[in-house]
Amino acid sequence: MQILAFGVQADEQPLIEEAFRGHHDVHCLDVFLTEDTAPIAAGHEIVSTSVNADLGAGVLEILAAGGTRMVAQRSTGFNNVDLVAAERLGLTVARVSYYSPYSVAEFAWTLAMAVNRRVVRASTRTRDFDFRLHGLMGRDLHGRTAGVLGTGKIGEAFARIAHGFGMRLLGWDVAENPACLELGMRYVPKDELLAEADLVSLHVPLMAETQHLIDANALKAMKDDAILVNSSRGGLIDTAALVGELRAGRFTGVGLDVYEAEAGLFFLDKSLEAIADDTLARLVTFPNVLVTSHQAYYTEDAVRQIVDATLRNVLDYRAGRRSENVLVPRS
Ligand SMILES: NC(=O)c1ccc[n+]([C@@H]2O[C@H](COP(=O)([O-])OP(=O)(O)OC[C@H]3O[C@@H](n4cnc5c(N)ncnc54)[C@H](O)[C@@H]3O)[C@@H](O)[C@H]2O)c1
Repeated sequence: MQILAFGVQADEQPLIEEAFRGHHDVHCLDVFLTEDTAPIAAGHEIVSTSVNADLGAGVLEILAAGGTRMVAQRSTGFNNVDLVAAERLGLTVARVSYYSPYSVAEFAWTLAMAVNRRVVRASTRTRDFDFRLHGLMGRDLHGRTAGVLGTGKIGEAFARIAHGFGMRLLGWDVAENPACLELGMRYVPKDELLAEADLVSLHVPLMAETQHLIDANALKAMKDDAILVNSSRGGLIDTAALVGELRAGRFTGVGLDVYEAEAGLFFLDKSLEAIADDTLARLVTFPNVLVTSHQAYYTEDAVRQIVDATLRNVLDYRAGRRSENVLVPRS
């Protein structure tokens, strides 16, 4: 059977082809799944999609009408999937519930340290043989406080690294993680965490309850010189409110691997186009902001695990087996 994979990065394609060899033929496309590209899937029972795929009702209807019965999403987050519509259309939808949490946690730290120690600016300067230090002063994180919102797999991995730096740990989650408690994490209400943390890192999933978790009030509650890192989902932050705070000169640094309106921009080369998104255009102008294009997961280890899990999801579907990765049908 031929599987159609949307949104495949050039580095990812050989890993997909290697994993599926001997099982199924995979046709890899670099285009992302949208209403415009969905008709390409006609005749493919199984399609695989990437993180920013549009799996809303409209696209799912086009897929179902074209004969698709299964969608194998190559990500953990599934905020892009209309689960109700998928169920109504009788589709099977699976995701990858586990892969290296270290990939994302280590990247969240990369952003935190890059903005704290002004690494991008320093590199730009030395390339221009400007070896001054003015404006590059950072802060020790040892002895300071890390606030982790969402202490699941990635939040825990992030907290372990913070512990290694000698930071005090505050956590916020609907459920306490015993491994984080063992590290000395203290769970506190969100506002207390935001008021006390020198570094705030977001690791909760995006859902109705967490949409704009970091809104204007939450931003106001943070220390003026805090570092904010988001490697989870863009919708967790009210970006317009964040721009307002940055304009007022607040925050030591903000590292964003995700952006609430990233679909249609991230993963694509827009360098020759006029960017219509004024919020993003303004965001990247701040000297204390670093934006990356949803690359936290993008390590060889994580991508291999994602691809292997996607293959298992496909084989399970073909064999009528159910696993924890299946989102729809719900039971
Ligand atoms: N940037 C990237 O490349 C990338 C890659 C993978 C995952 N992610 C994001 O990271 C998120 C976290 O991944 P994970 O593997 O750690 O997930 P996880 O399920 O292990 O952890 C999520 C944590 O959030 C908590 N939580 C859920 N709803 C909550 C709520 N309403 N309020 C407070 N806490 C709540 C859960 O109790 C859990 O501890 C994913 O949902 C995904 O959006 C981003």
